[in-house]
Amino acid sequence: MALGEMVMTVEADILERYQRRTPGSRARHEEARRYLPAGDTRSATWFAPYPTYMVAGEGAWLEDCDGNRYLDLLNNFTSLVHGHAQPDIVEYAADQLTRGTVFGTAAEPQVALARLLIERIPSIDLLRFTNSGTEATMMMMRAARAFTGRDIIVKMDGGYHGSHDFVEVSVSADLDCASAPAAKVEGRGVPDAVLNAVMVAPFNDLGALEALLRQHHERIAGVIVEPMPNAGGMVPPAPGYLRGLRALADEYGVLLLFDEIVTLRLGSGGFQAIEGAIPDLTAVAKIIGGGFPVGAFGGREDIMAMFDPAASPDFVFHSGTFNGNNMTMTAGLEAMQRLDQAAIERINRLGESLGAGINRIFRSLGIGAQCLGYGSLQQIHWTGEPVRTLADARRAGDNTGQLRRLLHLELLNRGVYTSNRGMFSITTPVNEADITLALRAVENALNTLLPYMRATAPRLLRG
Ligand SMILES: Cc1ncc(COP(=O)(O)O)c(C=O)c1O
Repeated sequence: MALGEMVMTVEADILERYQRRTPGSRARHEEARRYLPAGDTRSATWFAPYPTYMVAGEGAWLEDCDGNRYLDLLNNFTSLVHGHAQPDIVEYAADQLTRGTVFGTAAEPQVALARLLIERIPSIDLLRFTNSGTEATMMMMRAARAFTGRDIIVKMDGGYHGSHDFVEVSVSADLDCASAPAAKVEGRGVPDAVLNAVMVAPFNDLGALEALLRQHHERIAGVIVEPMPNAGGMVPPAPGYLRGLRALADEYGVLLLFDEIVTLRLGSGGFQAIEGAIPDLTAVAKIIGGGFPVGAFGGREDIMAMFDPAASPDFVFHSGTFNGNNMTMTAGLEAMQRLDQAAIERINRLGESLGAGINRIFRSLGIGAQCLGYGSLQQIHWTGEPVRTLADARRAGDNTGQLRRLLHLELLNRGVYTSNRGMFSITTPVNEADITLALRAVENALNTLLPYMRATAPRLLRG
């Protein structure tokens, strides 16, 4: 069979099996498109030909509207660290539901969750709740500007911190200029004016950041970084990098802001505690809401005190109708109490064993690709070369044609739900047998894709 024909056959076969398994999803998608652009309400969850409609979740498993079951290794993009409908979380939330969801006053559940987070996360003396991670990074950046009286925040080229305008800058890494990437607005509708208040530097490169700080530090309020960038590709920080950031921030008198919205799950005090690199401000979200919408930002007492109207008439404004609502706080407290050190170590071990297993499969099939990450968070990169920067990660992804998309669909065909960029995260209900099942699905899916790789990306195949 000619190579072109082989490509078409593999792709058509995967799509055909997906569509045959999911007629109910297809019908629902067609109906949904009449009311919602692309039939959905979130760019990250859409994929072609149409997303799977899940109708129920229990523990580590999801069921779609056609009765297919999936091992969920996405868990709402890492946020459901205890999987779906964890019985104790359900019980606490149901009890709270009967007593009121939100009162428009201060309420005790906020205090309990705030206390737990402050006891665990080294950088946080005081915190404020929001309804999303996007709001958390937005407010954290506002706090840094208000405290320093300076406008510019440096973010990492290729880093994602949510969807507010000031971080919709250089979300995909610059492939041409590794050491001094230019800040660029990402996507339509974001005003060029944000470039007056954002600069970018490459992740894992202290020298490049120092050059930027040396030249501009008098205008810079702070540097925001995800200790291990999630959307950037789960690229681990180089040894000493995060402590190096702390030292540079101190040397140049700027604030250090960590976005631990995804990485908090890796250690009870987040990645900052693992690395001993303590920022001035931290944003968290996802797992801290027990499955409900959430975010929080906090940090040094002198910075966070700016939000106290009793301390100063010139306080920093921060509001939100559902901030700290009873449902999120109650479910979040139970979720975080259940996520003790032993639980974190267990899911980290399972994640490492999934990553190592995928790397073994790549080697045995002669595929030059790799799984990277830390503990319960792992991601496939389609290159055998080292991936140190977010530009390396993007380059590996960009050069794969339809491979990422087809692997995602083929894993769905084989009963494993992941992100369509090849990211896996582990929840507490996952067990060793689930990892074995996931590895078998990955191996079979890669075998299905081998002829496609041979035709479209032979550089990935050894021998
Ligand atoms: C690192 C990081 N920061 C911020 C956000 C935004 O959080 P949210 O989707 O809750 O607004 C995300 C979401 O995936 C994220 O991964």
